[in-house]
Amino acid sequence: MMKFQSAALAVACALALAACGNDTPPPAEPAATPQATEAADAGAPPAMEQEATPAATPAPSDTAAQGSDPAVVADCATTIDSNDAMRYDADSITIPASCDQFTIRLTHSGQMPVAAMGHNVVVTSQADMQGVIAEGMGAGLDNDYVKPDDPRVVAHTDMIGGGEDTSVTFDVSRLRSGGPFVFFCSFPGHAALMKGSIAVE
Ligand code: CO
Repeated sequence: MMKFQSAALAVACALALAACGNDTPPPAEPAATPQATEAADAGAPPAMEQEATPAATPAPSDTAAQGSDPAVVADCATTIDSNDAMRYDADSITIPASCDQFTIRLTHSGQMPVAAMGHNVVVTSQADMQGVIAEGMGAGLDNDYVKPDDPRVVAHTDMIGGGEDTSVTFDVSRLRSGGPFVFFCSFPGHAALMKGSIAVE
């Protein structure tokens, strides 16, 4: 359409110049061409104008909604107790953004042996939790029910029994993206009750 108009315009100009006679200097004509081109550009359909719609915000998960029993955090560390009732005494851990490393100490105030009521703390993304638990079960108690060198595991403590305690220190950088993150006990069946959210704020 625009091309046709430009052509028609050029023809009109040519005719006009011809009509003007020989006393008009030819150099006046070329100016019409760039203008026609600009008009054509302006009339071109705008380039893809798809809105950069941000991905829908993920709905808060069950785990992320927990937090009725926040762990007490001080000096980039916390202590969580566990017991013979298959429970932690906290269901959320908030790591201060200023911490480069964080330490989770786990105590077991029960009396049952590790083989019967073992507890640990494993930190993964919420998305990786079930896979890590499933493969941890295959790894067995000898591996603290955590698959050795599993890259999905941000950190994990040893598996302990009643009266014992353990701790793990890890780089907080792993938790600054890719969340939400959770902590749980990977002893078979325990994560149903022993889990919570962990986040950097
Ligand atoms: Co446990």
